[in-house]
Amino acid sequence: MSRVALVTGGSRGIGAAISMALKEAGYAVAATYAGNDEAAAKFTEETGIKTYKWSVADYDACAEGIAKVEADLGPVDVLVNNAGITRDAPFHKMSREQWQEVMDTNLSGVFNMTHPLWPGMRERKFGRVINISSINGQKGQFGQANYSAAKAGDIGFTKALAQEGARAGITVNVICPGYIATEMVMAVPEKVRESIISTIPVGRLGEPEDIARCVVFLASDEAGFITGSTITANGGQYLT
Ligand code: CAA
Repeated sequence: MSRVALVTGGSRGIGAAISMALKEAGYAVAATYAGNDEAAAKFTEETGIKTYKWSVADYDACAEGIAKVEADLGPVDVLVNNAGITRDAPFHKMSREQWQEVMDTNLSGVFNMTHPLWPGMRERKFGRVINISSINGQKGQFGQANYSAAKAGDIGFTKALAQEGARAGITVNVICPGYIATEMVMAVPEKVRESIISTIPVGRLGEPEDIARCVVFLASDEAGFITGSTITANGGQYLT
């Protein structure tokens, strides 16, 4: 039987590429999305990957949604915490709402999704938790005090949980994408984006597939000795 993979924010951007790559690698894949029904319907039509709508910021919705996915596909073996939002503003203009929304989705969302799945992974003595952080959680970014804090939190979460999962056959790793050609990055004002690209040694934005390939590797049996790792995929923009 195929292993089951659940990808949050899995119908658009980097998440869509991850969902498709996991399907291609033989997993039964479920993708969650929070709001864009049209994009999700189109994604399902084009890929055959079933989508489920709930907000990762809502713990109860995560627990209920996960139960539904598991009833449809079976126990989740691979969780990819990819869902994320930006609410960029210089700190002196940042509202409490902009802070809270980003923390709720990008950091608490990772807790909300992992917590209900953790006992089952422990019981079955197998699991893969792959968190998608960001270069900006590593280096910080002007205009992203909220996002950088949440994404740095995802890295700390990964390192702590990796230690707890190790004896139970669960690996927990984090990928830090650099600037990838998605709607999120395209929403950055063009002049700012161009100046960011000029700081990327490979001279271009990354592709969603660059990240998806890392996920497929970390999900595999062959990656069982890799846990607590931070994989950087940023075209050389920031060297850790
Ligand atoms: N460093 C230093 N100063 C900067 C700066 C930077 N990186 N960016 C802007 N400033 C300065 C401006 O030059 C301006 O200075 P002056 O007032 O002296 O002219 C001042 O800051 C304020 O700038 P704005 O008036 O443009 O401020 P704003 O409120 O309109 O917007 C911003 C500021 C939202 C931060 C905008 O610059 C922006 O969108 N920056 C990009 C942030 C970014 O990289 N986001 C990543 C999104 S993609 C993503 O998050 C995915 C991922 O994981 C990589």
